[in-house]
Amino acid sequence: MPTEALLHIEGGVRLRGQALVQGAKNATLPMIAASLLASEGQTILHRVPPVKDVLVALEVLRRLGAKVQYEPREGTAVIDATTVDNTRLPAELTGRLRASILFVGPLLGRFRQAQIEEVGGCTIGQRPVDFHYRGFARLGASVEGMRGGGFHVSAQALEGASMYCDVPSHTGVENLIMAASLARGESIIENAASDPEIEDFALLMAKMGARVEGIGSRTVRIQGVEKLRGAEHTVMYDRLDAGLLMMAGAITGGDIALKGVQRQHLRIFEAKLQQMGVELDEDGEWLRVRRSGPLSPINVVTTFHPGFPTDLQPCITALSCIAQGDSYIRETVFEDRFGHIKVLRAFGAKLSPEKDRLVIVHGPAQLKGCKVKALDIRAGGAAVLAGLAAEGTSTIANLYQLDRGHAFLEERLCGLGARVVRT
Ligand code: EPU
Repeated sequence: MPTEALLHIEGGVRLRGQALVQGAKNATLPMIAASLLASEGQTILHRVPPVKDVLVALEVLRRLGAKVQYEPREGTAVIDATTVDNTRLPAELTGRLRASILFVGPLLGRFRQAQIEEVGGCTIGQRPVDFHYRGFARLGASVEGMRGGGFHVSAQALEGASMYCDVPSHTGVENLIMAASLARGESIIENAASDPEIEDFALLMAKMGARVEGIGSRTVRIQGVEKLRGAEHTVMYDRLDAGLLMMAGAITGGDIALKGVQRQHLRIFEAKLQQMGVELDEDGEWLRVRRSGPLSPINVVTTFHPGFPTDLQPCITALSCIAQGDSYIRETVFEDRFGHIKVLRAFGAKLSPEKDRLVIVHGPAQLKGCKVKALDIRAGGAAVLAGLAAEGTSTIANLYQLDRGHAFLEERLCGLGARVVRT
């Protein structure tokens, strides 16, 4: 019987040295989906991180009939979607990642139909996809629920329309931009999300021939075009991978230098780290992150970009466990993103029961090594941080979740002097 992969961390080592931030998963995924829009030419993406979600998304493309070459170490993906001849998304793959919903918009745009049975992803709340389907319907598509779950979306023609999100939805706006780009006339998306990954994705779309304005604001306008062609683009750096590494330096009282931290996307996060007593200094392409004194407690409220990112909440909760006093962490984006509380308690951290999406972290705790599971990507990150700070050895199971979002993590942590082994 195959044994499960485990990550063993011997805690208490102050990290020192240099590490590289990976390409952004959440920018790569919509770009992989966007490659489906190209009825001519290849789409070439550089700095594609070999995280599991990306590998699954590339496999989805292959199953739809695209030709895909990808070399994980080098990070370049060459996608020829001119050969795509299937609009039915494979359930066994789409069930593994939330972002599979992103394939529906481009398939609808280019082929006027798509069928999807299941979407998976992190269990951090209900995560409905009503904004996506409502938007497709506004463009003139018929959206039919299928027996056993999933949707069949089809249209004779797509007409530009006015669409909206009740709350700014990251993948929602990307999906609607893709569908609307091949609709006739102008579309408007109101209350759009403005995350930096959307901006990067829109840069690729513009290179493909799409006409999109207002990215970064709450109102995005799209002028439909006849067709789109493949293009070449280098994916931005991953702000969440950067955040995890920065906090790894901070939680161990380390002194590390990171390349690939796009600081303009992390302002509020950086301000919080500085309030806690973490020193940040830029030296050319490198960001030095160090902590010599104790950490101060912190208040965090997650919200839509440019607010504090929900994806960094589990990790900053872990960091605040060793701060000198009570930290208040409020989650407003997802209704069920506190799974890591249980994990952190296993390390000996003191956290009040979550109430009204608020958790109070009673620091400082002396964390002790233990065995836990990576519940989702970011809760997995929190477990890694706790393990790095804990006395003794920690073991993290369910590594698939961590691998969905971070590539070569133990290699990079070991490069910083951490004692981390995967067995
Ligand atoms: N929402 C709806 N209806 C919809 C869409 C969203 O009610 O049709 C709600 C959600 O339930 C949530 C809020 O709107 O309360 C925002 O969700 P959003 O749609 O922005 O999330 P997402 O697009 O599914 C992306 C990232 C997530 C990240 C969120 C928030 C990708 C592939 N995923 O998800 O990343 O947490 O935005 O920033 O871009 C991760 O990387 O670990 C991750 C979960």
